[in-house]
Amino acid sequence: MKITDTQTEHFHRNGFVMIPNPFGEETMLEVDRRQRENAGEWEATDWPKGMNIGACQFLMAGETVLSLVEQPQVVDLARSLLGTGDIHVGACGMGDASKTVSSDGRERQQVQWHADGGPDVKQVSFRTALDRHDTSNGPLRVLPGSHVREREDVAEELRQLEIATGQHDETPDLMFTRHPAEVEVVLDPRWTLVWTPSCWHATGVKSAAGPRRAMAWNFYPAGGRKRDLEALKHIHAGAWEKWSAERKTLWGLDNDR
Ligand SMILES: [Fe+2]
Repeated sequence: MKITDTQTEHFHRNGFVMIPNPFGEETMLEVDRRQRENAGEWEATDWPKGMNIGACQFLMAGETVLSLVEQPQVVDLARSLLGTGDIHVGACGMGDASKTVSSDGRERQQVQWHADGGPDVKQVSFRTALDRHDTSNGPLRVLPGSHVREREDVAEELRQLEIATGQHDETPDLMFTRHPAEVEVVLDPRWTLVWTPSCWHATGVKSAAGPRRAMAWNFYPAGGRKRDLEALKHIHAGAWEKWSAERKTLWGLDNDR
């Protein structure tokens, strides 16, 4: 999965680049099958407190997803975009995010504007939809170039746009409104979004019925986040200890980094 210099430049300037799905139809069908197979057990499990449940669902897909993440072309692209060979997977997830969003009691199934990181956080995320996330299916919306801007600066801009909708009596805490420069990413399973979650993002409203599943994982340089280490050890208990040194390093399991 080589990308061109101009595509690399696009990633650094705008915070994202879209590539043809590098995993192939057979593999995607296998992921889809495993997700459906595990969904019931995942939902019925009382996961340990503090464990990211999206990561648990991702890791439940077992070797299928481990080998996806470890595809040399994918890892090489992440290394090239992060500018270092020393990278690890520090976060991962699978499932239907629209289900967890509405669980905080809000009326609409929509994620507000936020950034998972700032200009100082280097990360590359690979996001592939299992169902088409079109305009009616809560698509991801990104604000190009916002990953290199001060967080408070972007937050204020979005707040002002939100107030300017005329819908608020008080200064809003959560911002949803459109930014004139945002990109609504209609993610079709035939494409993979390669992006940095340091870039501000939100979702559109999910008005369509049916699933909105995705899988995603983030690569970080040395010293970067290791959010899902506990989930990894939990799901692969008894197995991860015997993994190759290379696999352990890629999944952030060596202690001295
Ligand atoms: Fe996010």
